[in-house]
Amino acid sequence: MTHGQSSSAEAKATVIDGKAVAAEIIAKVAVETGRLIAAGGVAPGLAVVLVGDDAASQVYVGAKGRKATELGFHSVQHTLPLSTSEAEVLAIVGELNRDPAIHGILVQLPLPRHIDTTKVIEAIDPAKDVDGFHPINVGRLAIGERDRALVSCTPAGCLLLIQRVLGDLAGKNALVIGRSNIVGKPMAQLLLQESCTVTVAHSRSRDLPGLARQADIIVAAVGRPEMVRGDWIKPGAVIIDVGMNRIPAPERGQGKTRLVGDVAYAEAAAVASAITPVPGGVGPMTIAMLMANTLTAACRAAGKPEPTF
Ligand code: GUN
Repeated sequence: MTHGQSSSAEAKATVIDGKAVAAEIIAKVAVETGRLIAAGGVAPGLAVVLVGDDAASQVYVGAKGRKATELGFHSVQHTLPLSTSEAEVLAIVGELNRDPAIHGILVQLPLPRHIDTTKVIEAIDPAKDVDGFHPINVGRLAIGERDRALVSCTPAGCLLLIQRVLGDLAGKNALVIGRSNIVGKPMAQLLLQESCTVTVAHSRSRDLPGLARQADIIVAAVGRPEMVRGDWIKPGAVIIDVGMNRIPAPERGQGKTRLVGDVAYAEAAAVASAITPVPGGVGPMTIAMLMANTLTAACRAAGKPEPTF
């Protein structure tokens, strides 16, 4: 974590260094993986399934496989053509479910339109569902059984970042902007579990700026470039920006783009007490939590104690 310098009378937020926190988590996963193997367990095994040729998905899947290999995990990747049928994907998931060397199965989303995403997610053994998308894991999180669930990686990473800054979250007002199954909903459940007063806002919410002004914590996960403005933010709030939006950047030259979050960073940083940058904030945490979930699944399969992150 680095502390911003106050160059003027204006307070400047702490920049939450997600890359550094992610590196700490990866280091812990490495140590705990060694411990699991020394205790007679096997190396955690992660299988990633990619269907089709979505460029962004290829980049994400490649990064996940490389990190798993770096950690000494058993790492498997199934790269399937766009023409792959739903039955073929379900057959591969079935094989991975039965493979004792595999502890984590991740089917990269989005899937091609001819494949029913819900059906594929529900075919994954919940004990191997390192994305935390299976209804069993979603349900366990919702009823407060996090210790038996696997939790969606991005919100789990966001929670760790918030806790690093604030410690105990009990009684804080938290606003989650976005209600996706991958980020918004599990984020709200995690914050509720930490005894926050949670509001979930979405595209039909009224007076979003008014809701934001009451929040001690804002998690923005809507996919709208720089939507959250500085004057929406309560002084001293903690801002977590899950957005990854590529926008035109003509100032960098013709046809150039740049990556921005869902929060207008410079404005927000002048008001908030801490904020995640884009890139380098939430992004690196997602892969780190995927590795942590895979290790957790491997420890549970081996009947060994699991580390906490
Ligand atoms: N696509 C975008 N985010 C995710 C994720 O967290 N998991 C999977 N499987 N696909 C994604």
